[in-house]
Amino acid sequence: MRIQIATTILGMSVSLILLAKDALAFTVMPSISSPSFSKSSQYSAQFASVTDTDSDSDLLQGCLDKLEKRIKGGPGALSDSEVAELKDAMSQIAESLDSAPPKHDYDETQLRSAVVDLNTTAVSAMLEAGLKMDKETTDAAFWAVVKSIDDAEEQDKALSADVPRMIHHIFDADMEQLLERYDDTITTNLTCMQPDESVDLSSHKMAYIFDDSSHKDLPLAEGRRCEDGDCCDACSRNVFPTFALDSETDRETFPGLNALTFNKVYGVSTGTILQFVRLIERVRRTMSYEYGVPLKSLLPLQAYSRKYVAGSTQQGGGGGEGDFVTLHTDESTHAGYHYSCVIYLSTQGEDFEGGDFVFNDPAPKAEKTDGDANSKTAEGDSDDDEVPDELLAALARGELPDDIPWLDDVEDEEDLAKGDDYYESLNDEIRSAGRILNPYHPKKGAAVIFTSGWENMHEVEKITSGVRFAVPAFFTTCPVPEMAYEQMAVGKPKSDDDIADDWLHLLFANRKQSPMESAGRVRELLMKWHCLCAPLNEH
Ligand SMILES: *[C@@H]1O[C@H](CO)[C@@H](O)[C@H](O)[C@H]1NC(C)=O
Ligand SMILES: *[C@@H]1O[C@H](CO)[C@@H](O)[C@H](O)[C@H]1NC(C)=O
Repeated sequence: MRIQIATTILGMSVSLILLAKDALAFTVMPSISSPSFSKSSQYSAQFASVTDTDSDSDLLQGCLDKLEKRIKGGPGALSDSEVAELKDAMSQIAESLDSAPPKHDYDETQLRSAVVDLNTTAVSAMLEAGLKMDKETTDAAFWAVVKSIDDAEEQDKALSADVPRMIHHIFDADMEQLLERYDDTITTNLTCMQPDESVDLSSHKMAYIFDDSSHKDLPLAEGRRCEDGDCCDACSRNVFPTFALDSETDRETFPGLNALTFNKVYGVSTGTILQFVRLIERVRRTMSYEYGVPLKSLLPLQAYSRKYVAGSTQQGGGGGEGDFVTLHTDESTHAGYHYSCVIYLSTQGEDFEGGDFVFNDPAPKAEKTDGDANSKTAEGDSDDDEVPDELLAALARGELPDDIPWLDDVEDEEDLAKGDDYYESLNDEIRSAGRILNPYHPKKGAAVIFTSGWENMHEVEKITSGVRFAVPAFFTTCPVPEMAYEQMAVGKPKSDDDIADDWLHLLFANRKQSPMESAGRVRELLMKWHCLCAPLNEH
């Protein structure tokens, strides 16, 4: 801002300044090297107070006043120290001139038309000159890219190097625009947690993944595990109410966005594929920003659209349908998952009921022992008259005895009739015993981004009606061994044309592939993700 003001003023007064420099040159010359040019003079103090206002126009005005005095000569002439200060101020101004963006006469309309023409030389020049791509211009760029890809595919031609260049501008602009609404983010800082040293994860691993009661009882110690990676020391969870704008998750504009996996891009529109990548890349950049992890060291390991249908059962992980997800820790599911995200593509209360995303945290110890009446988490401990402890324990172990002795004791026959409900509430009771449940009610376009460690145990509650769509994405900081790139048919891209080739072959050349072929392609896509999504000079 400061430099911009200076530039504007200086733009008008630059000839005056040059005049001033000339006028000073011959009189000041002899004393330039003199040590008496000290900033500690009284005059300097006054001058400093001017610059302290942070206004370059004041600074400039001061210079011009003194210059006038100097030119008039006579009794009002500048003292040596005044000349020194003037010179100081001049070089300050010259410096800000040097570092200011080059003066330009571009406007938004020119930027828009350069974007539509996919003239990235012109776009880059205008962005460097200080213009910004707003939402409309970014969307125009997006569709220009889509058209260019579709044209190339149709004509079976190579993709223009302008395509990746423009994609990089789009991703930059997206992040700038997200930062403008970043204040809406709800951040909760957490102490990082990891399994206690006493836990042999390898032998317990399966149980800890699939059995939520043993998962929450896992002995933990403070600290970040981040196996083979380089995470930041801080842990947190962040809710972004408008991570994607409404138009960005629109089902008509992006058909199939709800069901996309990188393994099956055949027949999916270019717009949908690019939009999916765009959202995942926005997540990656947000993680880099939020956690201070260098962008190049963050790669997606997994990202797919997932469908939750009321009444269906989970068919294992990886994009299968189901109506809930059991309590787990992402880093426990996969040691390489270091940062996690869920982007929501549908809204609770509109598209489905139930299906909360719930962070399941241990209740503070104090609450457990003093039985704080305000804490809903203490219920499980205090309700000793309802459910026998042995049964709770058995259920917690996953045992469901056929004959449930305490049911005989139920006095009210109606309780027997609604046995299912009773089980549900029992399950809730087991779930919340000694825990604090922090639910998030999914909303289309929102995202939850969090560290993948044991500080962020979570689950997805059963959805009771409708269909819930979400995009889980998991990122790693584990470096890709250079060997892996060397083994690829085409290694790391070395030019924008190479990047364009990778975009085309890893994503947009929609050929039918065998599962083996597509697994290889997706592996390469994820390993080259940064190379595709960031310009060459940042590789
Ligand atoms: C790109 O824009 C610049 C500046 O407007 C223009 O000189 C150049 O001819 C354009 N290039 C193409 C390929 O249209
Ligand atoms: C969370 O931690 C960061 C530093 O890691 C700090 O800047 C921020 O103020 C903290 N936020 C809250 C809500 O405590």
